[in-house]
Amino acid sequence: MTKRKTTGTKAAALAKDALRLIIPHFASNAELARGAKIFTRGEGCYVYDVDGKKYFDSFATLLTTVCGHCRPEVTRAVTEQMNRLEFFPNYVDTFTEPLVELARRLADLMPGDLEVSFFVNSGSEANEAALKMARQYHVERGERQRHKFIARRDSYHATTLGGTSVTGLSWFREYFEPLLPGCLFTNAARLRDCPPGTDPAEYGRQCLRELEQLILFEKPELIAGMIMDPIPGSNTGFPLPPPRYLEGVRALCDKHGILLIFDEVQTGFGKTGKWFACQHWDVVPDIMTIGKGFTGGFIPLAATVTTPKVAEVFRRGPGTEFRSGGTYGGHTVACAATLANLDIIEKEHLVENATRTGAYLKGKLDRLAAKYAIIGEISGIGLLWAVRLMADGKANKPLDAKLKVGSWIRDWCYRNGMILRNNGDILVLAPPLIITRKEVDLVVGLMDKAIGAAVKEFDL
Ligand SMILES: Cc1ncc(COP(=O)(O)O)c(C=O)c1O
Repeated sequence: MTKRKTTGTKAAALAKDALRLIIPHFASNAELARGAKIFTRGEGCYVYDVDGKKYFDSFATLLTTVCGHCRPEVTRAVTEQMNRLEFFPNYVDTFTEPLVELARRLADLMPGDLEVSFFVNSGSEANEAALKMARQYHVERGERQRHKFIARRDSYHATTLGGTSVTGLSWFREYFEPLLPGCLFTNAARLRDCPPGTDPAEYGRQCLRELEQLILFEKPELIAGMIMDPIPGSNTGFPLPPPRYLEGVRALCDKHGILLIFDEVQTGFGKTGKWFACQHWDVVPDIMTIGKGFTGGFIPLAATVTTPKVAEVFRRGPGTEFRSGGTYGGHTVACAATLANLDIIEKEHLVENATRTGAYLKGKLDRLAAKYAIIGEISGIGLLWAVRLMADGKANKPLDAKLKVGSWIRDWCYRNGMILRNNGDILVLAPPLIITRKEVDLVVGLMDKAIGAAVKEFDL
């Protein structure tokens, strides 16, 4: 006997059961009150809903589909792997061919000497593993007391409790406190926060002085690691750091024996116009976490990648092994899909396209900013861009948040065939790296119309 009754059209029945039987991740009851959106098909930068309506996905399916949807190259690789061996775990002493192949590939691709990988299923798990790796690294080296972490205000790192503890956005934390003890926050160090009249390089030095004061106050010998995203993500509109900030953080971590962890879950794999964001400053962390675009959205996979210097402490003999793991980490078919995804990025020169088409997109956004007074700031790099709506951009005066102008624009775009991400009054663009100039014209054209309609609607 089945408990499930479907009535009406298939689409209506799916929507009804979606609302009844599923808790979506970071659910929004306000959005859900208007119904469930159900997607059934994807192709390139487009997805189709259950009614067959086509949408341009300007947020690359939560920043994952760098090569676009449904690439036959990936389907082939996955099918072949499925037919040979769908899964064998990376557990104790067992490995699979695509897993080793992928580890080799990463060792070549990652900056500096980041070449030893611990494979997991999500960006959150990768950051969770990075925190554990940093803690155990110090234990193995006889500094068990190093347990604290420094993170940045306003940065998101994970949904797990450890990762939430180093997430500097109160919305993600408030229901789960008290969190992990010893997680400390330094300033967000954004170029955009540099006070008018202050030299940006001096602002960078100020941020570093604040960081060192925190380290000294909290005692360096108690600090295990610093976790940061070299370019923070869509939540805050991809703000760039002040000049020489990353270099300064690296130097402070070296000086005080602190492991530096870069979270490149969002910024990795070409989106910034380099394979990894930290390559814009030539700064290499001790541990880097990757996810999202790594596997191109095909099958979940993420990794915590470190240097031989860190990995060596876990290989000193029985009992020193890194004590973490999970059933599906480094899933065989996910590795095959990811290898095919990386092949496409390389063959189609998508990292270069992020720079080239990203510059074209930025030019068009600048023209939009010149047209609309409510556009206060355009921030970002490569193919990651954010448009900040403001009541008065020059006076840095925000819009009345209660108006929800950003959400109104997002909904307008959705009705007109484009998925646009907004975070309050920040509109975010992070399209697949295969985006063409023609598609950029489509995206900015729709934004132009949507912003124009919002100006009229709210009399801005
Ligand atoms: C910078 C950053 N780190 C970590 C994560 C967590 O990744 P996941 O959602 O795959 O767990 C995200 C997800 O949005 C992210 O943007």
